[in-house]
Amino acid sequence: MSRPRIGILCSGGDSPGMNAAIRACVRMALYLGYQPIGIRRGYNGLIEGDFVELTANSVSGIIERGGTILQAGRSLAFQTPEGRQKAYENLQRHDIHRLIVIGGDGTCRGAHTFLSEYPDMQILGLPGTIDNDLVGTDYTIGFDTAVNIAVEAIDRLRDTAAAMGRLFIVEVMGRDSGFIALFSGLASGAEAVLVPETPTDYEAIVRILERGWQRHKTSAIIVVAEGDEAGGALLAAKEIGKRFPHYEIRAVVLGHIQRGGKPSAFDRLLATRLGAAAVERLHEGANNAMVGIQNDRIVLTPFQYATKAHHALNPTLLRLVEILSL
Ligand code: F6P
Repeated sequence: MSRPRIGILCSGGDSPGMNAAIRACVRMALYLGYQPIGIRRGYNGLIEGDFVELTANSVSGIIERGGTILQAGRSLAFQTPEGRQKAYENLQRHDIHRLIVIGGDGTCRGAHTFLSEYPDMQILGLPGTIDNDLVGTDYTIGFDTAVNIAVEAIDRLRDTAAAMGRLFIVEVMGRDSGFIALFSGLASGAEAVLVPETPTDYEAIVRILERGWQRHKTSAIIVVAEGDEAGGALLAAKEIGKRFPHYEIRAVVLGHIQRGGKPSAFDRLLATRLGAAAVERLHEGANNAMVGIQNDRIVLTPFQYATKAHHALNPTLLRLVEILSL
């Protein structure tokens, strides 16, 4: 008799650690008697029937690799009822009734809509995004790696900033969320951090820069999240330069560099624990939820709550940036 099948896909923007999550899902699925099926290119692959049987060997040597062996992608077609119907028909044809979707809020929303139309399916999600913006998990897979990459880059910029007596405005990723900006800014001793969650106060930034200037600081770093209403590093540089002309200013956009490269040990462990737990919970009958970690415990959050609001920034950390930049 053939084994029941579990489909696995990565959707949205890739994040470091997705491969570690796939590996854990595949190996746990085999352990529990399932046949894992990889679906390439996210929901697009579901619609186009781009499926591949996965074995223990197909996930060998991937725990340390960035990107995703299944490829990821954003799917406009899956946002239409016709696209979702095709996806369902393909799943039926391949006898797949269980899915694990790895991705961010769009991925969870897609899964939730799909389940509302096809309730005979069983789907769990894994939080795979560098943005760390999902409710129901303390950390998302890829966030820690992205923060480490940003910190390494900011450290390098600090060297040249100090040597040249400059102010660097560094833009990090986070379309709607300031987690990478806040964590990388705090970890690199930035003078200020601009995030979409709070209004940008240029006068306050000038006060901070002035304070440093008075005590002969030779450089300054301001980290700005891509989604901040300041409009990114170039615009922020212009506005700050008008108000505080003492430093020569340079703007740097780190961009997709933050999504590539080897996942950190933290992300590998997180992905491994969540991937294995997702298969176990599917096996136990759980459905329509994201598998996350809170206070070191695995928790399930219904898709509709995981994406309802953004995971909130800790205001104490924001305050610390300001106090410690003294
Ligand atoms: O969602 C993760 C993310 O990296 C965001 O931080 C960023 O705004 C977006 O994806 C970039 O998307 P794309 O890879 O499609 O340019």
